[in-house]
Amino acid sequence: MNRSIELLTQEIGRQLAEVEPTLPLTRRWEDRLVDRLLTEPGFKTQVFRLVDVYPSLRSVEDRFDHLHSYLNIDSAPAIVRSGLRLAAASSLGRKAAADVLDRSIARMARRFIAGSTPAEALPTLRALWDERTAPILDLLGEVTVTDADADRYGLRVAEYLHAVAADMSSWPVRPEIETDHHGPLPRLSVAIKPTALSATYHPLSAERGIREAGDRIRPILQAAMEENVFVWFDMEHFAVRDLTMRLFTQLVGDPEFAHLDAGIVVQAYLRDSMSQLQDLITFAEARSRPIGIRLVKGAYWDTETVEAAAHGWPAPVFEAKEATDANFEACTRVLNGAYRYVRPAYASHNLRSVAHAIADARIQKLPPATLEFQMLYGMGDDLRMAVNELGVRTRFYAPVGELIPGMAYLVRRLLENTSNESFLRQSRSTRRLSSLLAPPVPLEGAKDA
Ligand code: FAD
Ligand code: 2OP
Repeated sequence: MNRSIELLTQEIGRQLAEVEPTLPLTRRWEDRLVDRLLTEPGFKTQVFRLVDVYPSLRSVEDRFDHLHSYLNIDSAPAIVRSGLRLAAASSLGRKAAADVLDRSIARMARRFIAGSTPAEALPTLRALWDERTAPILDLLGEVTVTDADADRYGLRVAEYLHAVAADMSSWPVRPEIETDHHGPLPRLSVAIKPTALSATYHPLSAERGIREAGDRIRPILQAAMEENVFVWFDMEHFAVRDLTMRLFTQLVGDPEFAHLDAGIVVQAYLRDSMSQLQDLITFAEARSRPIGIRLVKGAYWDTETVEAAAHGWPAPVFEAKEATDANFEACTRVLNGAYRYVRPAYASHNLRSVAHAIADARIQKLPPATLEFQMLYGMGDDLRMAVNELGVRTRFYAPVGELIPGMAYLVRRLLENTSNESFLRQSRSTRRLSSLLAPPVPLEGAKDA
């Protein structure tokens, strides 16, 4: 291990951790309650099942029946079981319990979703802009099954993009978030998920899926160039990773979009992510304008492992968390090293991963303003403020839309917040700073070492 980068990582990590937390007390209390309720794995699985079926439950009776049959189990906390037993005794009680379910889901959604429309989200976006954080607008929706839905989604992304860009044009100038080492940066970014833009976007119909998604993305890219908006292509489950790589390089490599600011995502939990990163850097070297590369760990770990096991395939993802963390750091060194051709962005709520990226940039002597850190709306607020305090640019991902198309997104956030492996969960428990900042060392001889 390189001693100087490790020392610097520890120093920056401690500096970031020293910044006073700003989270409101209610949020801390809510986080702890959720942690306590979800410590029992059997109960946690049932909660996720309930959240999954919730959008299809129409009547009060239906909602209560599901609530009762999913959560009245031995592993549920006593307070939940006795509440359900009491409620079952009368129609008023059943209605009250169904209302609690509705309110809890709406509250969880409000925590992670910035608004159901751009108009509703704009005050939040503006408040965060005043805290020196720029938005990435994401219209909730993914894995479309009809052409009509894909058409509607494409049109709404362009409509939302125009509406938010128009509003933002009168916001005060903030040079610290509007420039990087390559020059001016668009104020607004949007994220797109290709599976929302074609009903045939899967490996068995790859050519057609890429063509159809491309046809619906082109008008979005034209609108983005017109309004000077940055477009991020999100990365979804592994089965469509290569399709999205092809879609991105075809569109962003097209001379029509030579002046577009665009970026794509590398998921460090994928065993072959380093070679994907290198392919993207090679692509960036040949393009006249830099591309953004957002390094994440990956949001689909549970799906990838369950699916691979069901088919008897080797999982495309690492199976040890430390292996993902170590690979994230290895990819960080390569991504920082490519700063001449790319705009490196790190999307993580993990203090260690963030501190390491900043330390590596200093060791590699990157020009000022090269790095950007991205966080999800409703997560990692303290870390975002601490990174801002260091004078490093931050951006936040702001999902906008209705609850039902946002359900898969919400479930991923809940999984991420309640997983035993999650940095956020560990940092809420009593783990000491030294262990939170410890370097990830995959065990020798372990599967992923
Ligand atoms: P940590 O707690 O340090 O890491 C958790 C992550 O480790 C898990 O999400 C998983 O990736 C990995 N992990 C957990 N358990 C294991 C295990 N047993 N073995 C191996 N690995 C494990 N994700 C996408 O997939 N595509 C995107 O386009 C995308 N865009 C994002 C944009 C932004 C702005 C942000 C902030 C996140 C985005 N993400 C995306 C989500 C991101 O992948 C998760 O938020 C992230 O993985 C959580 O990592 P962390 O460093 O914050 O937390
Ligand atoms: C997700 O949708 C943020 O792209 C990431 O989970």
